[in-house]
Amino acid sequence: METRKNFGSRLGVVLAAAGSAVGLGNVWRFPTEVGNNGGAAFILIYLLCVLLIGVPVMISEFLIGRHTHANTISAYARLAPGSWWRIEGVAGVFVAFLILSYYVIISGWTLYYLVQSCTGALAAEQDFKAGFSSFVSHPWWPVVYGCIFMAMTHVVIARGVQSGIERFSKVMMPLLLVIIVVLVACSFSMPGAREGLHFLLKPDFSKVSTRVMLSAMGQAFFSLSLAMGCLCTYASYFGPETRLVRTAVNVSLIDTMVAILSGFIIFPAVFSVAGVQVDEGPGLVFITLPNVFHMAFHSLPLLGYVFSVLFYLLLLLAALTSAMSLHESVTAYVLETTHISRRQASALVSVSCMLLGVACSLSFGPWSDFKVFGLTIFELFDFAASKVIMLLSGIVICLFVGWRLDRQLVYDEVTNYGTVPFRLFRFYVFLIRYVIPVIIGVIFVNELLR
Ligand code: TRP
Repeated sequence: METRKNFGSRLGVVLAAAGSAVGLGNVWRFPTEVGNNGGAAFILIYLLCVLLIGVPVMISEFLIGRHTHANTISAYARLAPGSWWRIEGVAGVFVAFLILSYYVIISGWTLYYLVQSCTGALAAEQDFKAGFSSFVSHPWWPVVYGCIFMAMTHVVIARGVQSGIERFSKVMMPLLLVIIVVLVACSFSMPGAREGLHFLLKPDFSKVSTRVMLSAMGQAFFSLSLAMGCLCTYASYFGPETRLVRTAVNVSLIDTMVAILSGFIIFPAVFSVAGVQVDEGPGLVFITLPNVFHMAFHSLPLLGYVFSVLFYLLLLLAALTSAMSLHESVTAYVLETTHISRRQASALVSVSCMLLGVACSLSFGPWSDFKVFGLTIFELFDFAASKVIMLLSGIVICLFVGWRLDRQLVYDEVTNYGTVPFRLFRFYVFLIRYVIPVIIGVIFVNELLR
């Protein structure tokens, strides 16, 4: 087995973890939630959720990973030998595997749209809705693109922590930020930009209901990639000098900034074209936006071309850095519990995950009638992972760090053995012991009842 390496620089740490957090959810979910749920009022609530729930849970995951320097399953097994808490580690790795299997398929779609934009085929499309559904329900094209995407992820992971994850994050994340700035500028210069911004930002506190608050919390949790073993795995490569609290705050800030800026890209553009319906999720990025590119840039085809290529490149980069962290969670486990090399371990994960991915992809087409509890395979995986296991895991992580771990151990980790001050330590412990588990419990029940 190779010796375990840490990330080589502070920037590498922040960019890798931010890469995990910044994903498709920032672009296709957050902006619509903001627009529909009270604009700036929603953003305010979201920020509170990130600070009061997201950051403390992230710190907790970081400290488990950094303290044990092991993959998520071994980390829990080491901190709580012989007890039921170990299941939390298993849940983390399992859920990462499950999510990766469908994340590659969706990411494959973004790759397809990028290729279509580059070749100009997207601009020539007549009916975007029909085009989208005929692509995703095709028996093998989405699988082909999913495989290419998985191969890209695989190449990074097989190279290891420093020359793979860290090196690529240091290139991809700055590139992603540059693309965002360019796209925001493009979008702001479009004719209806003001109305789009108005839709996004006008604070409307009357829309804020319990449901909206819960959905802000769920979104914060998902967007920060919490409770999936990923941040815990990355933290196991943090060196002794990494400041956990500061890193968690920085990562959350970057993630939130990207989410808000995505809104600045999407809504001015969408509102510049009259009569376009605003969808959420895949519909927003694969149907609404191509429509917008098509119509808004009718007279300026070159600008439309650049806008759409950059936009899908942005999505692809966001997806890739998230997929890397999911992959690494599973690979680290396989690597550290068997005697095979990193290359073999990552190949094993890529191939087995892809097999599951094929089933997910088919569930949009030939297998769409095959349902379990009324859900297709894709919907089932998504529901199990991002609704059930993610939230339950979040509760367990807080209880574990708050009640089971030795308080001194927790203090030593978050303060780097007393060398960096953390004045809010007691408040942090209070939050993870009582407040957050209760809140997540409420979100969980609410999601199940929906
Ligand atoms: N945070 C990612 C997004 O915003 C999605 C996600 C959730 C994720 N959990 C994850 C990504 C774990 C990587 C690892 O889209």
